[in-house]
Amino acid sequence: MKSTITHIAARQIWDSRGRPTVEADVSLAGGATGRAAAPAGASRGAHEAIDLRDGGARFGGMGVSQAVAAVNVEIAARLRGLDVADQVGLDEALIELDGTPALERLGGNAVVAVSLAALQAAAAAEGLPLWAHLAQGRRVRLPLPEIQIFGGGAHAGRRTDVQDFMIMTPGAGSVREALEITAEVFRAAGRLMEETGRLAGAADEGGWWPMFASNEEALEALVQAIEMAGYRPGEDVFISLDVAANELQAGDGRYRLGLDGADFDSAAMVARVADWVRRFPILSIEDPVGQDDLEGFALATRTFGQKIQLIGDDILVTSAARVHRAAAAGAGNAVLVKVNQAGTVTRAKAALDAAREQGWAAIVSARSGETEDVAIAHLATGWDAGQIKVGSFARSERMAKWNELLRIEEAMGPDACFAGRGAFAAGVTAGLA
Ligand code: PGA
Ligand code: ZN
Repeated sequence: MKSTITHIAARQIWDSRGRPTVEADVSLAGGATGRAAAPAGASRGAHEAIDLRDGGARFGGMGVSQAVAAVNVEIAARLRGLDVADQVGLDEALIELDGTPALERLGGNAVVAVSLAALQAAAAAEGLPLWAHLAQGRRVRLPLPEIQIFGGGAHAGRRTDVQDFMIMTPGAGSVREALEITAEVFRAAGRLMEETGRLAGAADEGGWWPMFASNEEALEALVQAIEMAGYRPGEDVFISLDVAANELQAGDGRYRLGLDGADFDSAAMVARVADWVRRFPILSIEDPVGQDDLEGFALATRTFGQKIQLIGDDILVTSAARVHRAAAAGAGNAVLVKVNQAGTVTRAKAALDAAREQGWAAIVSARSGETEDVAIAHLATGWDAGQIKVGSFARSERMAKWNELLRIEEAMGPDACFAGRGAFAAGVTAGLA
């Protein structure tokens, strides 16, 4: 059969932080090939798939020679002869072969690279772009982006406690317009930093390095940058935060905001974020509490999650079971979908489907360690996720994804439909006209 796997090969390439990562190629009998690279997180949840790293002194222990070998030997032997048209069967074979719950034997990095490369090969075999292969003829929407302006937390030496200060433009009519607005806000933010003597480079995902005396000052600067760019905060452009509160926990369940000199229990942490939500044009909040604080997440939902998007990242780790559990607890209304958190394409899609079943929104997301692989632009579109998060508006591993969305939008022509205001769960109306 044309779509039968004949050959799988992996290599070590380098990610956007200059760290090794796994890239896999899948070749099919009919001559089609697919390629994918594993991304890597820095603020990882404890419950996500685990990458296999060599350890030792070389490359800070981040080498992937064992993960590459796992693809070239065990995975290649197991998958050869299988049909890429059966992604579910293929992903099951990968999980079974690994045999551990978190994929640590073969490595989440090895498994995700192969799973995604097989998906790419399946699209190539059909002669379709990946988004169209996934859409299967259904009408799908281009995703509303959330784009980082200041990058803090684990991506900027913990210079701010909050990890991502982002913007969203739900009123834009297209990806193209959303990116044009973002370009102006990003530039204005850079100018503002320069004028106030705070320009100090870029964080891991390309956002401006956050030279602020408090988390709130960063929020104020963001509002100012939106205005400087000629837009109305809370009307044309909204703020979205990834608190990544997991990184603020010391192990005793308490939250420490170094910049604000605060030491909070879960309820006080929720109250602090609620205060920001009251005072700033915030439309979306991710991980306001830590990965095991489902109660705090439910409290946040009751406090401000009726009108505000409340995204689970580290607490849900792209797991369908966790989405259902959180929904049953009344915690959250959106899931962040990171394929490498789940380990396979099928598991990631299941998390997205779980969100849909619960009436939640979904955001397909990149990691802080990325490559030139643009697959997530296609996943977000082809799966009709509604939203996408890729980091900032600088550095080519980020821009490559934004640019790919422009190409997809162009390819759809007059059929192109932008998710915009329709990207959210019902009830998320904060300031949305
Ligand atoms: P990470 O950060 O890729 O470092 O985990 C992204 C996020 O927290 O959303
Ligand atoms: Zn996050």
